[in-house]
Amino acid sequence: MSRVVLAGADEDLILRVKQAADGDVTVLAPGRLPSDPARLFEQLLDGELPDVLLVGPHAPAPDVLTLAARLDIQSPGISVVLMADPSPDMWQAAMRAGVRDLLPPTAEVAEIQAALDRAASTAAGRRRVLRPVEETARYTGRVITIASPKGGVGKTTVSTNLAIGLTASAPQSTVLVDLDVQFGDVASALGLVPEYTLPDAVRGPASEDTMVLKTFLTQHPSGLYAVCGAESPAAGDTVSGEDVTRLLASLAREFRYVVVDTAPGLSEQTLAALDRATDVVMLTSMDVPGVRGLRKELDVLRELCMIPAGRHVVMNFADAKGGLSVRDVETAIGTGVDVVLPRSSAVPPSTNQGVPLLQSGRRDPMVKELRRLVSRFAATPLMRPSRYRAKHRAAS
Ligand SMILES: Nc1ncnc2c1ncn2[C@@H]1O[C@H](COP(=O)(O)OP(=O)(O)O)[C@@H](O)[C@H]1O
Ligand SMILES: [Mg+2]
Repeated sequence: MSRVVLAGADEDLILRVKQAADGDVTVLAPGRLPSDPARLFEQLLDGELPDVLLVGPHAPAPDVLTLAARLDIQSPGISVVLMADPSPDMWQAAMRAGVRDLLPPTAEVAEIQAALDRAASTAAGRRRVLRPVEETARYTGRVITIASPKGGVGKTTVSTNLAIGLTASAPQSTVLVDLDVQFGDVASALGLVPEYTLPDAVRGPASEDTMVLKTFLTQHPSGLYAVCGAESPAAGDTVSGEDVTRLLASLAREFRYVVVDTAPGLSEQTLAALDRATDVVMLTSMDVPGVRGLRKELDVLRELCMIPAGRHVVMNFADAKGGLSVRDVETAIGTGVDVVLPRSSAVPPSTNQGVPLLQSGRRDPMVKELRRLVSRFAATPLMRPSRYRAKHRAAS
């Protein structure tokens, strides 16, 4: 039986949909439909994802279309059905946003039932192709690579906080890898004194046996594991792209979440990490050079077909005084911004003390937005993007 989530509906439509779906309907409370899938999933209290999201005529069409377009990319295993006046314009907009079906608001039970069946079977088909990672192999965790064209934009801040946040939802099953091979500072940001570092983890016995590899990791009191950066730039430089590929594959067999901090730009190691990633967090500061750099990096990665299925654009150092709005940035980079992190005076001391904000439990606007970022991963389904990319390319 398929699971339907219904939004933007009045009492009469709720009754019709319940009949059509044979009772398995979760009705979202009235109010604005979030345009961010993660915020939608937060509203599903049992955490189970639907097969079909049915949106009634009471939700504003632009919000629905934005949400549908994002779901189409982030969670293609969910089909969206929209009830709205089926004008040619609406059909076109809906099709572009990846909406599966359009029904008139007056649709009868039988018509709704047929649309739900079609949408659920498409969702099931897509899911078979994308196979949730947990169902495959022994374990293939989510590999989240944090990248940016420039330094000093908050990659280490975001990756350490994301890793700490994910550790809370997957204790003992989250690992953070410092791939800023020359000047990595994950150890310092987490207040760790590592016995072994990245070069130890990619060669010798650790590279051959995952159980041995685990003994080369550094443990953080929160339950997070870390592969800390090399002791010197020269030692870091000995780590090749192939070493990175092998390391991340081994870690993904053991850990649910593998978070990867990187050096600025597209080094050999960063490209290897992007190639293995299920998700990328593209980070930039909210200023003109930062945004331009991000645009160029996205263009290059698109050309190389190296943007994973999970793509998250994060702005850091957001500041009303800077003169750039989120809309300006979205126009410049040609895609949506997913999370906006404010400039916050709480961040530098947390870096200096080696205690990430999400660990200190401080109340701060930055903490709220970092949690929003964490929930994008803790609440969305896993998928295997490299296969998705391969199929996608083969089909196009
Ligand atoms: N949102 C923020 N508000 C204030 N300071 C920040 C913020 N994000 C990062 N910082 C500070 O900026 C500096 C650079 O951040 P870092 O995470 O090391 O960047 P990167 O890893 O990209 O080089 C650090 O001192 C950090 O404390
Ligand atoms: Mg850094």
